Amino acid sequence: MNAAASAAPVDNILDGGRFVRACLRRPVDRTPVWFLRQAGRYMQEYRDVRKHHTLVEICKQPEIAAEVTITAAEKLGVDAAIIFADLLLPLEPMGLPFEFLAGEGPVVHKPVRTAEDVLALRTDRAEDLAYVAKAIEKVAAHFRDRLGIIGFCGAPFTLASYMIEGGGSKNYIYTKKMMYGDTTSWRILLDKLATVLTDYCRLQVQAGADVIQIFDSWVGALSLTDYREYAFEASKRLVRAVQEMGVPVIYFGVETAGLLTEMASTGADVIGLDWRQPLDEGWRAVGSGHAVQGNLDPITLFAPLEVLEARVKEILQLAAGRPGHIFNLGHGIVPTTPVENVQAVVKMVREHSLITNAEAARG
Ligand code: CP3
Repeated sequence: MNAAASAAPVDNILDGGRFVRACLRRPVDRTPVWFLRQAGRYMQEYRDVRKHHTLVEICKQPEIAAEVTITAAEKLGVDAAIIFADLLLPLEPMGLPFEFLAGEGPVVHKPVRTAEDVLALRTDRAEDLAYVAKAIEKVAAHFRDRLGIIGFCGAPFTLASYMIEGGGSKNYIYTKKMMYGDTTSWRILLDKLATVLTDYCRLQVQAGADVIQIFDSWVGALSLTDYREYAFEASKRLVRAVQEMGVPVIYFGVETAGLLTEMASTGADVIGLDWRQPLDEGWRAVGSGHAVQGNLDPITLFAPLEVLEARVKEILQLAAGRPGHIFNLGHGIVPTTPVENVQAVVKMVREHSLITNAEAARG
């Protein structure tokens, strides 16, 4: 159930309410924790499911997507469950088929390169993504108010980059060629994406997502000037549209140290910090009017437990128990990560944040 439909989860300091409260910068007893890519190949249970289904099959079968989401959240003991889906799913109803090739990541067969390609993209079929909403309904029915439920989508810039490059990219040459060289088409493309993503998020919120995370994973490829000129408006439009649905928004990107202040001015409730910058510096750039999420280096999960614990404590100390911190990684869990270390982090966050948060409450 989302915050708009009922005040109960937000007012409940425990369980699912803890995560939503932190998104809204309300005080909590201990810092909520979840992990980017918490369901994935590092977990045996996920690998077992993957033996029988492709990634897209899992996403399109609500029963299986819900099971994968629930299993990961319960195994880790986290405060929020992110729905199992993929960033690229909206490409298909827009008219761009794609597939995941082993070892290569996503491949879009006919990348968007011309004005005609942009004009041909459809914006009227977000309903085709109802399978994600069905999975959210199942997860929401399972957890009720015990855990926060996170829906998500890509940000217009990051999705446009996949559409134009045809997959992942290092230098974003085709993307930037369109941005600079055919700005009209670029703007139409981001506008079409914002329209489809708004409809897609609405389906997720109506199905029971408590919070929406917008992944602008590759926005760090832009200078501040280009972010302002070519990406900001479409992100802001999406953020505001989702907030009007009555749920908080988390806006996340990687290598964003130079963009944080501008990202925060989209109005997103929470800014996701990557792991390259100390949390307090990132929070200063974001401003005290926003919550922050982050920001442990995911590769720290391979370190000895003492080192891991020192890094977890450091982040909690930099957050200093101020309302509005959600503990997370600074980017996703990688495939060979030891599950027991992820579980250990949950325990560490619970223990240490009880102390930092109580100290902050005493002033
Ligand atoms: O637990 C969760 O986090 C939910 C599931 C989730 C997936 N993708 C499933 C997935 C989420 C939140 C995503 C988001 C996503 N997808 C992002 C944004 C997050 C980020 O990392 O910044 C991006 C960029 C994508 C696109 C994507 N999907 C890539 C580049 C890849 C291949 C990379 C790789 O590790 O192979 C995927 C595949 C993918 N999506 C996997 C999972 C669990 C792994 C592949 C598999 O199971 O075959």
